[in-house]
Parts: sequence; C-alpha cells; structure tokens
Amino acid sequence: MSTILDDGVRRRGGTLRAMPDATRHLLQLEGMDAESMRALLVRAEAFMRPGDHGRILSGKTVATVFFEDSTRTRTSFVLAAKRLGSEAIDLSGSGTSLSKGETLDDTARTIEAMGVDAIVVRVKQAGGPHLIARAVGCSVLNAGDGKHEHPTQGLLDVLALARAKGRTNTFDLTGLTVAIVGDVAASRVARSDVVAMTALGAEVVLVGPPAQAPRSLSVLGAKVERDLDAVLGRADAVQLLRVQFERHGGRGIASRREYRAGYALTVARARRMRPDAVVMHPGPMNRGMEIDDAVADGDGIELPRSIVLDQVSCGVAVRMAALERLLAGGPPGGGDGTE
Ligand code: CP
Repeated sequence: MSTILDDGVRRRGGTLRAMPDATRHLLQLEGMDAESMRALLVRAEAFMRPGDHGRILSGKTVATVFFEDSTRTRTSFVLAAKRLGSEAIDLSGSGTSLSKGETLDDTARTIEAMGVDAIVVRVKQAGGPHLIARAVGCSVLNAGDGKHEHPTQGLLDVLALARAKGRTNTFDLTGLTVAIVGDVAASRVARSDVVAMTALGAEVVLVGPPAQAPRSLSVLGAKVERDLDAVLGRADAVQLLRVQFERHGGRGIASRREYRAGYALTVARARRMRPDAVVMHPGPMNRGMEIDDAVADGDGIELPRSIVLDQVSCGVAVRMAALERLLAGGPPGGGDGTE
C-alpha cells in the first residue's frame, strides 16, 4: 500500500524512508496492528460515557495547526485536549508564517519550541505529517494529509459502526459488509476506513465511477464495484463520500445528474437497504448531491438510520484516546482502561 504515498514521503531519492516511531505519533493506520486499534477503540468507548475522565493531560499543551479547512476534526481535537485537562492552542494555516515562505518543518519546529507536547496537523501534501514528525521531538497527530490518510477518522468511523452494530465488546467486525461510495480516489477517509475496517474483520466494498473508484484501489484490501444498486442489499453500512471538486475539479464526472443517477444515496435507493443497515458520512455532506436530504437525517423507521452525528460524537472520544495514548502512555494504571 505504500504506492498511495506521494512525494511527501518519497522525496529523498524516491525511496520510502523509515516510518517515524508509532508509539510517539499517530500518522496513519496502515501498519498499525488490529490489537493497537482495538486498544484505542476500547478507551474511546470509555470516553463516550459521560463523566469526569480526570485531568490525565494536565500540564501538557496540544497545538492544532490546520492548513486546510475543517469543522469536525479541528474542533474535536481541541475539545478532546481540553477534556483531558491539557492546554490547547489552535492555529489556522492561513495565519501562520508559511504564507511568508517559512517551510513546514520550520513552522513545526517553531511551534514546538514554545513548549508544545503534541502538534495536530492537517496539510494538503500527503506525507506532510510524516515530514513534521521527523523534524520535531514532540508527538505529531495526522488530522488529514492530502489524499493519503485521516487516521482518527478511520477509528471514529469504526467506533460509530461498532456502536450501531453492538460490536463494542471486541470490536470484531467479522460478518459485516461496509460499502464506501463515491469519490474514493480523492478520499483520505476511505483509505483509513478500509485499513481499519478490514483489519478488524469487515468486508469493504468501494463503489464509484471509474475515475473516482479505479480498480487499482483493490490494493487497499477492498473490493471495487460499479453498481451501487447491486451492493446496497447486502451492506450493513453505507458510507457516502463527498465529491471533492477542490482536489480534481470534477474530472471524470460527466455531470451532476449522471453522478447522482449512479452513485447518490437517494430516498428510493435508501428504501432498498436492509432494514438494520445504517447510513454514514464523514462530513461535510453535500445534501442533494451524494446524499438526499431525508436520507442524511434518516431515523431508522421511514428510512435507514443515519449515524452521521454519532460519527461526530465518536470523533471527540477517539481523539481523547489518541492524545492519552501518545501523551500519557495510555490509561492511568495501564491496561486498556476498562473496569
Ligand atoms: N470528516 C472531516 O474530516 O471533517 P472536517 O473536514 O470538518 O474536519
């Protein structure tokens, strides 16, 4: 799967350089074993329960640095850091000295020099967080790097799915089929989802037009199919993806009408889903494009249950678990934090 990494990771002589220490950083799910994912998910599930989770990160400082727009990831990392008692500083890329020509490494080293324990970063370049991790001594968490990975999104999608399907005891997803539909090639979410969901036992089917879901994506460990209607009836969850016009300008999409005809989860299609199947979307949603308005808000009675907002809630818990793991070495007292 290293072929999905672009020059951000390969720039030195075209060879893949050693991955920075995974006990200090969360850069990608690829390469993480299922047990490590489960440990984070168990802890995140504990953080979903209301209550005071202690000031595990008291005295620590977390910086969020976003060079691409975000609502969910950015806010939930800040909330996660604060809920664990750490200080959180939030910088937007447009307000940093990058616009004056400073390199990403220098910006990261400058932020670290102020006494920061973790940098949460979203960048356009695949491999950008990996470069930063090599440049600094503090922890680095990838909040989305280009079209490569979005590791905390992959974990939160598993957490939301496992909660919907009653799989939080073991986080074993064996027997579940997840369809990920739409602009897969441009989606870092899809990549992290496939890695996490297949590692935990789910079958993942990627569905989209040839330009958005090329057959080469099967190297990720998922099947690639074209006919959404043929997949719908066997899916336990359908995760829609936004068409990322900002990354490819709509190349390969004949027209909005044609795209919707083939790949939108319309009300008519949603009615053909299994009654216990759930609708997912990492957000932001384009209602009326990849998903019908009513389907996005499905209540599980008239239309399949939408767990889109559960995914958002799970995001805070997963990010708490990730920060705890990297900055405190895991739950207080060791183990996985379960009683
Ligand atoms: N899912 C996701 O990454 O959303 P944001 O862009 O709002 O962070």
